[in-house]
Amino acid sequence: MGVDLAVKIGKLTLKNPVMVSSGTFGCGEQYEELVDLKELGAITTKTITLREREGNKPPRIAETYAGMLNAIGLENKGLNYFCDTTLKYLNSIKTPYIVSVAGEEEKDYSKLIKALDKLNIEAIELNISCPNVKSKKKRMFSQDAQDTFKLVSKVRKLTKATLIVKLSPNVTDIKEIALAAQDAGAEAVSLVNTFLGMAIDVHSRKPKLGNITGGLSGPAIKPLALRMVYEAANCLKIPVIGQGGIMSPEDGLEFILAGATAISIGTANFIEPQSAILIKKGIEKYLIKNKIKSIKQLRGTIIS
Ligand SMILES: Cc1cc2nc3c(=O)[nH]c(=O)nc-3n(C[C@H](O)[C@H](O)[C@H](O)COP(=O)(O)O)c2cc1C
Repeated sequence: MGVDLAVKIGKLTLKNPVMVSSGTFGCGEQYEELVDLKELGAITTKTITLREREGNKPPRIAETYAGMLNAIGLENKGLNYFCDTTLKYLNSIKTPYIVSVAGEEEKDYSKLIKALDKLNIEAIELNISCPNVKSKKKRMFSQDAQDTFKLVSKVRKLTKATLIVKLSPNVTDIKEIALAAQDAGAEAVSLVNTFLGMAIDVHSRKPKLGNITGGLSGPAIKPLALRMVYEAANCLKIPVIGQGGIMSPEDGLEFILAGATAISIGTANFIEPQSAILIKKGIEKYLIKNKIKSIKQLRGTIIS
């Protein structure tokens, strides 16, 4: 029995629901010898900013029980380099891609979106939830419903691309923020970004990260992320892209049962570069075994 794994995120059709998360897969090129990129539902690129960023001072990564802390600080070569070099690569592969962008203030986002729109980029992920950069605002856009609404409404008018908004789990009520993104015209939300955390080396008494705090990801966050995806999916009409600690097909299926339309694989790529493909194959097997014809029939079917 053949099963239908295709899903739609805004105007983007993915042949399967398993994507790779921003910042954990470059723009695909470092992985091309290890992974058949064509098998991925989509690649979300490392977040780009208007100008080149060096990122935070090292160390930028610390291992934790069942996860990792990172404080990369959005190191990237900036918009011009991306348009002149990386885009050529992305357009040469046969995998849908989503360009992730971030800025310190609204006008940075607007400039990025306008530039990408001119290049007919199909899908953009608005990263308004990076915990490792100092923005001109005191908090992340995604930590305030009004700020989220204002920013998304503004950039929505600047592009015909599918607009996905990446949300932070570092909030009291994810529903409020997710609804603000939807009301402002987002075609999907992606959650979660990392949870703020820290670790200290007791021998040196120094923080394990140069930035002191960082973002926690990996299996440790899965139950927290799953709960947030469940809450968001239950109050939204637009698709939710679920992520946070997905390591196995069962983890991915949990997110789909909780209401996610697609799932995204992050930290698992550092352990097993083929993770997304293995997870996709496992999901396919589950559908066949349970005689479910289409992944869409499984979405949100948790029995509670
Ligand atoms: C090393 C590292 C770098 C990341 N960089 C970005 C980034 O540039 N933009 C972004 O939106 N999320 C970034 N993230 C967050 C991931 O995309 C993902 O939302 C988060 O790690 C949760 O998924 P996971 O537990 O499967 O890793 C990064 C995560 C890690 C571990």
